[in-house]
This record gives sequence, structure tokens and C-alpha cells, in this order.
Amino acid sequence: MSVSSMKARVFLKNNQNVLQLLHRFQSNLAGLDSKKLEITPAGPKEVKAKPEVKDLVFGKNFTDHMLKVRWTANEGWHQPKITPFENFSMHPGAKVLHYAQELFEGMKAYRGVDDKIRMFRPMHNMARMNVTAQRACLPTFEGSEFVECIRKLIQIDQEWVPHCTSSSLYIRPTLIGTEAALGVSPANEAELYVILCPVGPYFATGLKPVNLLADPNFIRAWPGGCGFAKMGSNYAPTLWIGKHAEKYGCQQVLWLFGADHEITEVGAMNIFALFDHGSGKKELVTPPLDQGIILPGVTRRSIIELVSEWGEFEVSERKVTMKEVLEANSKGQLLEMFGAGTAAVVSPVGGIYFDGKMQQIPVPETSLAQRIMNSMSDIYYGRVKHNWAIDVEEWKIDRNQHLQDYVNAEEKLRRVEAA
Ligand SMILES: Cc1ncc(COP(=O)(O)O)c(C=O)c1O
Repeated sequence: MSVSSMKARVFLKNNQNVLQLLHRFQSNLAGLDSKKLEITPAGPKEVKAKPEVKDLVFGKNFTDHMLKVRWTANEGWHQPKITPFENFSMHPGAKVLHYAQELFEGMKAYRGVDDKIRMFRPMHNMARMNVTAQRACLPTFEGSEFVECIRKLIQIDQEWVPHCTSSSLYIRPTLIGTEAALGVSPANEAELYVILCPVGPYFATGLKPVNLLADPNFIRAWPGGCGFAKMGSNYAPTLWIGKHAEKYGCQQVLWLFGADHEITEVGAMNIFALFDHGSGKKELVTPPLDQGIILPGVTRRSIIELVSEWGEFEVSERKVTMKEVLEANSKGQLLEMFGAGTAAVVSPVGGIYFDGKMQQIPVPETSLAQRIMNSMSDIYYGRVKHNWAIDVEEWKIDRNQHLQDYVNAEEKLRRVEAA
């Protein structure tokens, strides 16, 4: 290799980030642009009857409209379109149907006590979606532009946001590789779309504890894998284990990792445990994100921030093992455990089936889980004013907010790409 080409390689290696940025700005490909949004309203025959809140089943009722944005490798993002809700027509060879080149998000809009509709920290979902897109070799986009299109969709279907402070509108942004080609390579065509479902309360009659199967033979995610990303391919393999858990009277799986049975997540939720070590403040623990095996939940981050602000608890993002949980439980130092995610907000743990027996986990009458549920609900439903809840009419989005959980994940990917 000549000296000049070696110098060029060294320059490229050292300046990868700068070059990537330059490429972004110089690229002729169109970015996702909310100003180009085209809206085709549903006709009278396409408008559906709205079910009563009591009849809502999660993810089964869909609103009247959807949002679609096509992407092609040689043009970039096409015009975003809101259309009447309709089926897709897709080539049977589309990559998503064969190699699961797909990712999704789960977020909600809430109708407040003041009748205003609010989204909860939507830029977090946008950041997570972009990190996942990067890892899935699907196109990334300007989050604030996409969320602006989603806002319009919610405004159009606003009557579908339940008039009830225990229900919400579930928002499902999805990105799929649609190129019709069976080669195992990134799709050069993709479809970004959003569908909406009104959903009832996760726990219709108050928080109900669930039992968890903790079996180290089953692993959800591992270092170097995709646990930090929200890809459909992370979920399909968990279904069989979920069914297996039922045999032990368990409704969810507690995902363990490693020889020392680290606790990572529960079902499709993050996990929290509250300890009283008898040495001052009680400690609220959730496992850390550094290994890339845990999905950085928006609810997880919000609980960490909320409870830290109260100043009454030590809040730790640290490793926690089954051994620690069981020992603390036997000494009466484990006060409670709960899962956390957008769907349920918090979900108390009643028991863990581990090593051939069901270990009962305390479910206090006055629990931290319930207190968090109340505080989060106050924010969702506008009972307290909070900058996490974004009014879809007054719309104040900080497009430059620093979202460390996703920045860390993205930096890891960028380091690999630059190596
Ligand atoms: C695996 C997994 N962990 C955690 C969560 C919780 O994330 P969030 O609070 O953003 O809903 C989810 C849900 O999206 C999930 O699928």
C-alpha cells in the first residue's frame, strides 16, 4: 500500500464521525419532511363505530386513519401520507416476511381531565426507533419530523382517544423492509407506518400481582445481540417460553442472564426491586443498560427520574442477581418487585418460580408501585402539569433534548461502524 493511501486510511479512520455527518448534510436523499404531509380523510363508509371502553381489548380495535411514509435507497424518504385505515398490498418476497427486517415502537396519547390530549415523552420513542433502525439496517429519520406527522394523525383521529382517565390511545409506529428480494441483505425499500388503537386499563380492577418463571435455560438477549433494540425478532422467540411459563402458574417470564443469574427484564417490561438493607434509605434497583441486553424503557427512565426527585430513596442502576433477591427475601429485606412499561405502567410481582419452587414476593398494601402508578397517571391525564406530557395542540417539542440511554446505544453502534 502506498504511503498516501495509508495516510488516507488513517484519516478516514480518525474522522469517521465527521465524515458521516458531512455525508448526511451533503446527501441528496430526501429527509422525512412533515411539511410534505398529504392527508386523505376517510369517507363516510370508511368511518367505523367506536367501541365502548369496557369492550376494548388490547390491540384489537383500530382507528379510521393511518400514517405511511415510503423510503427508497435512491431517493430517501417520500411524501408522508395520512390515509383511511387499509390493508397493505405486499410482494410475497418482501424481506420483512422472510428475514424479519422489522422494528416497532409502543407509545400512548392520553385524554386529560381537561379534555386535552397529550403524548408522553415522544422523542424518547423516536430516539429508540432510530437506534433500532440503525441496528436493523433500516433507514433513520429526523424524529421531530416523524412525531409531527404522528401528532397530525392523532388530531385527525382524536375522537378515538378514550374519554376516560384509565384508558388511552396506543400508538404503534412500525418500520419494515419491503424490497421484494430473497437475498439476505438490507432492503433498499422500506415502509414506515403508524396505526392507532384505543386501549382500556391494563388492570381493570387495580394492580394485580403476577407470577414469573425464572429459568436460566431461556435467554432473551445477550451481549453483542439486539436486546437494546425494539425489533419484532426479539419477541417471536419469547412466545413459546411464555406458554411454557403457564405450566408453572406464571403469567410472565423473568429473563435471567449469565452464570450468576442476573435479573434483566420481565416479559416485555423493565424490572425494579425495592430493598430495605436496614442502613438508611430504601434502595430502588433496576439493572443497568451497559451490556446492551436490556431495552431502554421510557417508563424505566421516567421512574428512575421521578423517584430520584422525591429524594426519599436511593435509586440504583446496578446489577442484581437471583441470589441477592432470594437472600434479601428470606431476610425480609426485599420489600417489593414490579415490572414497568408503557402498556401496564407498573406491574407488581407476586411470586417467582425458580429452581423448582415458587418463591412468594411481598406485595405491600401501600406499595411504591402504586405510588408510582398514581404519580405517572397524574402526569398522563394532566392532573399535574409536567413537561413530559406534550399537549398535541400546544405542541412544544424539544428536538435537541439529550437522551442518554439512546445516545449510549448509538455511540456503541457508531464505534463498531467506524472500526
Ligand atoms: C422488552 C421490553 N422491555 C421494556 C419495555 C418497556 O419500555 P417502555 O417503558 O418504553 O414501554 C418494553 C416495551 O416496550 C419491552 O418490549
